[in-house]
Amino acid sequence: MGEQAGQAFGIDIGGTGIKGAIVDTTTGHLVTERTRILTPHPATPDAVAAVVARLLTAASWQGLVGATFPAVIQHGVAQSAANVDPSWIGTDVDACFTAAAGGANEVIVLNDADAAGIAEARFGAARGVGGVVILLTFGTGIGSALLIDGALVPNTELGHLELDGHDAEKRAAASVRDEHKMSYKKWALRVQEYMRHVERLFTPDLFVVGGGVSKDAAKWVPLLQLKTPVKAAELLNDAGIVGAAMAAAERRGE
Ligand code: BGC
Repeated sequence: MGEQAGQAFGIDIGGTGIKGAIVDTTTGHLVTERTRILTPHPATPDAVAAVVARLLTAASWQGLVGATFPAVIQHGVAQSAANVDPSWIGTDVDACFTAAAGGANEVIVLNDADAAGIAEARFGAARGVGGVVILLTFGTGIGSALLIDGALVPNTELGHLELDGHDAEKRAAASVRDEHKMSYKKWALRVQEYMRHVERLFTPDLFVVGGGVSKDAAKWVPLLQLKTPVKAAELLNDAGIVGAAMAAAERRGE
């Protein structure tokens, strides 16, 4: 399928899978089914770029592409590698993926939590919410997106705040719950301690909590005692794909 007005291809790059679909950027809906390819190991830039190219070829897509990446992405260049191969640091990911995609494809890459924040602000839990919104994603690490009246401040990296002398994501990520077989009740106390810290620093108007654990939101979100209202992310599995496509479309429109 060639490029159509109001559409972009969204790709969500994670530690286990790389998923993609065509997105209607006016509604935030997926136009095609999601395709998922296992993340290669080692997940080096060239190996991941080859998967990006496969997804685009499989969809016969030519045009605008947005992709998430779980690291700091400043103007297309990866600047950190907390949970990814260190060879990404300093890689121009936009250029690497655009070259691998070939043809008329132009790939724009952004941080995974930032993409989820954009998707939730346009179509999900933070839709129409003014003021300061902080989205936190709980997965292998903790990702964050800071939005002010719907506009994103990129690369906030609040998962790496210090908590009790530790990197916060090493205490409160969803992977820590899995690793230590913690109940939601026990893990929610850690999340609460972390979110209170974020609350003290930013006084947000709304927290949105996402990541894989948002599907079980009813088991832990009501346990959080915070001053700030907390909503579960609404786009679940699609937040990355939709947010990446939206970011690419918005960047093109600038
Ligand atoms: C990374 C962030 C990322 C988050 C969620 C953190 O370890 O530093 O860039 O957004 O994990 O994947």
